[in-house]
Amino acid sequence: MKNKAKYYITTPIYYVNDKPHIGHAYTTIVADVLARHYRQKLGKDNVYFLTGTDEHGAKIADSAAKLNIDPQTFTDQISSQFKIAWAQLDISYDQFIRTTDSKHKKIVQDILVKLKSTKTPLNNDCLYQADYEGLYCVGCEKFILESELVDGLCPDHKVAPQKLAEKNWFFKLADYLPIITEKIKKDELVIFPENRKKEVLGLLEKQNLPDFSISRSRVSVPWGIDLPWDDTQKAYVWVDALSNYLSALDYPAGDNFKKFWPADCQLLALDILKFHAIYWPAILLSLDLPLPKTLNIHGFFTIDGQKMSKTIGNVVNPNDLVAIYGAEATKYLILSQFAFGAESDIRVEDFPAKYNADLVNGLGNLVSRVTNMVEQYLDGQVAFDHENLVLVNEVKAKIEALDFRGALLKIWQTIQNSNALIDTTKPWVKAKSEDTKDKEELKKDLSLMTANLYNIALALASFMPQASQAILDILQAEKIKKPEVGLFQRLEK
Ligand code: MSP
Repeated sequence: MKNKAKYYITTPIYYVNDKPHIGHAYTTIVADVLARHYRQKLGKDNVYFLTGTDEHGAKIADSAAKLNIDPQTFTDQISSQFKIAWAQLDISYDQFIRTTDSKHKKIVQDILVKLKSTKTPLNNDCLYQADYEGLYCVGCEKFILESELVDGLCPDHKVAPQKLAEKNWFFKLADYLPIITEKIKKDELVIFPENRKKEVLGLLEKQNLPDFSISRSRVSVPWGIDLPWDDTQKAYVWVDALSNYLSALDYPAGDNFKKFWPADCQLLALDILKFHAIYWPAILLSLDLPLPKTLNIHGFFTIDGQKMSKTIGNVVNPNDLVAIYGAEATKYLILSQFAFGAESDIRVEDFPAKYNADLVNGLGNLVSRVTNMVEQYLDGQVAFDHENLVLVNEVKAKIEALDFRGALLKIWQTIQNSNALIDTTKPWVKAKSEDTKDKEELKKDLSLMTANLYNIALALASFMPQASQAILDILQAEKIKKPEVGLFQRLEK
């Protein structure tokens, strides 16, 4: 029997050292659009959308210590802020995983035990113990090379790394690199877009990627999952975190695991590309599991050319945007600003003008005008074509190609054309005429405008489910009536 089509989509699990910001929101909104699209296409039960929070490690322990609260209370607080932000944005996840969930902790330990008894393709032990001396950046939660420092500081966090000397457990990465390279080259593991695939292959071809540690000494990192066979150690936070994509499905025996693994689409930004494109496949290979089908890498956003950070004070909070624009308009403004793979500056200062132009004057006005004219001139009744789905199909294809901006541009072009059609056909003139030809033409024009609006509503379903449904409800009612309250409220000056 052929396997039924299914779609498993994941976002990275976000660190809870700080509140959610617009960068986390972007990835999560993209996942939401895809999940909604595939639910329509494959049926609700055949889609699984996972997001959550990454709660262990030195970075989080440090943040909690600074506030003088214990790490669990701290992570409970921040994790719930992520949940609130996603509720505000109407994110339709199927599971919100936390790495402090006891189910997750147990599965991570089982995975580690499995790795410990595994041999690599070259018949080495997959895990081995070694002394480690090096520099560690807590902000990145990774070891960093002397050559990567700028003026002695981590280039991303502008902080001097810690000198570490500890005994850790390591993963024999080198033995897996040829297989990973092959799978990426053959697109058995698709890395999208192409420039990110090249970047990963470049890293792999250097051949000197060091093995990575799967544990940290519990003295230096007390906040983490215990290593089952060595009580001096805690699981390294990245191994803990990456395992969430499996533990969420109740690996190895859960029905969800059997149904949904491998992941169809894993979303992330390029900051964590190496972990997902090299370490993660290596772990999966050593567990004898299929690799995800695609890793989809979007750009990293800056504000005025700078990384968002609490210290700089330039963090954009998604809740603030929702308070001004509402959830659906916020999603529109974020997704339409730049293409999926582009690295660019977020310009929230452009949002008010764009909101007024595209949502209030564009979509909102179109809905009011068309429904008003059908109500006034045709007593709310118009026959229109439900079958012409050119726009809908074009938009669906763009969503599947991760061209969200392109899809929205296409919809907004149609909105603009439809508004222009009203201006050129002037139904209000024909409505006043006694001529039957004018009356016929008026019917035809309004029928076309209603069909366009219907198509626009369908095309918006995965981006703005509420607005889409509201428009469909109006158009499918016995009599079409102009909504009493406009779809989008003009911003107060
Ligand atoms: N906890 C790790 C991920 C573990 S996944 C097994 C982590 N967390 S994070 O909170 O730093 O989130 C990183 C992800 O959040 C990025 O890969 C991206 O999806 C999103 N973004 C965070 N900041 C961003 C920008 N400034 N711009 C775009 N996306 C950003 O890394």
